[in-house]
Amino acid sequence: MSAGGLPRDTAASVAQAVLLEGVSKSFRSGKGSRTEALRDVTLSVPEGKFVTLLGPSGCGKTTLLRIVDGLIAPDIGRVEVYGSAPRPGPDIGLVFQSFRLIPWLTAQANVEFALRSLALSRPDRQAQAHEYLGLVGLTGFAQAYPAELSGGMKQRVALARALACEPRILLMDEPFASIDAQTRELMQVELMRLWARRKSAVLFVTHSVDEAIVLSDQIVLLGPRPGRVVESLDVDLDRPRWAYDTRSDARYVELRRYLSARMRDLVLADPQSEFFQREPTSTETAAPENEPTASGR
Ligand SMILES: Nc1ncnc2c1ncn2[C@@H]1O[C@H](COP(=O)(O)OP(=O)(O)OP(=O)(O)O)[C@@H](O)[C@H]1O
Ligand SMILES: [Mg+2]
Repeated sequence: MSAGGLPRDTAASVAQAVLLEGVSKSFRSGKGSRTEALRDVTLSVPEGKFVTLLGPSGCGKTTLLRIVDGLIAPDIGRVEVYGSAPRPGPDIGLVFQSFRLIPWLTAQANVEFALRSLALSRPDRQAQAHEYLGLVGLTGFAQAYPAELSGGMKQRVALARALACEPRILLMDEPFASIDAQTRELMQVELMRLWARRKSAVLFVTHSVDEAIVLSDQIVLLGPRPGRVVESLDVDLDRPRWAYDTRSDARYVELRRYLSARMRDLVLADPQSEFFQREPTSTETAAPENEPTASGR
């Protein structure tokens, strides 16, 4: 798919969990200058699909998630979540890099707190929170406070909290960015396992090419200043991806090489990047001459 073009799925009338058409958004700073965060963004998240926004810092990924969540409105363009204007609520689950747990509540109480907007009795709320803490492997830490948990554990609580409402859409903004590399890989598998149970639509944000490929059905590459869709690629790797060594699959290797080169080019071409116009030092990640073998579009 080229920037600005309608995604293929729209034509095929696949149910869209999220649809953005021609979305632009600018911010005005206190000094009166204007930052164009997003320009003419068109993309969709089909029901049950895992779509990742991949792009360098400042390309508008968080802004885009906040527009889908209904927290901010675009200047122009159409935004629909399951066919309606977006609005925050239990249909949309949010997971952020910074966890955002309530420090004076236990893990169990944090998850229960998220369930308060659902019409559940107190015992049902307790049972559901307990179930989801179990799914992320934290039954033994239900009564611990956030300060008593490691970074990985806190992110598990945040994941349980988002999933416990059984949202139709999960929005995740670099949820594993502040977790060490080993825990991060384990959390990716955990997320895939949890997602495979219900397959809600997911819009996931990351800077990491590897994370994007491992998790996604589709990767939307965003370029910075202004934030725009550069390219969209299908990830044609078998699932479940925890059942084999995905990273050694030839399609993975090719897609990784292609996306790494594209990401690097976007950063080198960005005048506000500290790497602007620097010469690449490695030929290993040089842009391939041909399109990737994974079904790019
Ligand atoms: N509330 C705001 N007021 C002014 N400018 C903003 C605001 N929110 C975002 N911006 C600007 O919009 C641009 C996109 O920001 P955004 O946070 O969406 O990028 P991002 O892709 O999520 O970056 P990162 O990868 O670093 O998290 C940036 O230039 C940022 O400074
Ligand atoms: Mg961000």
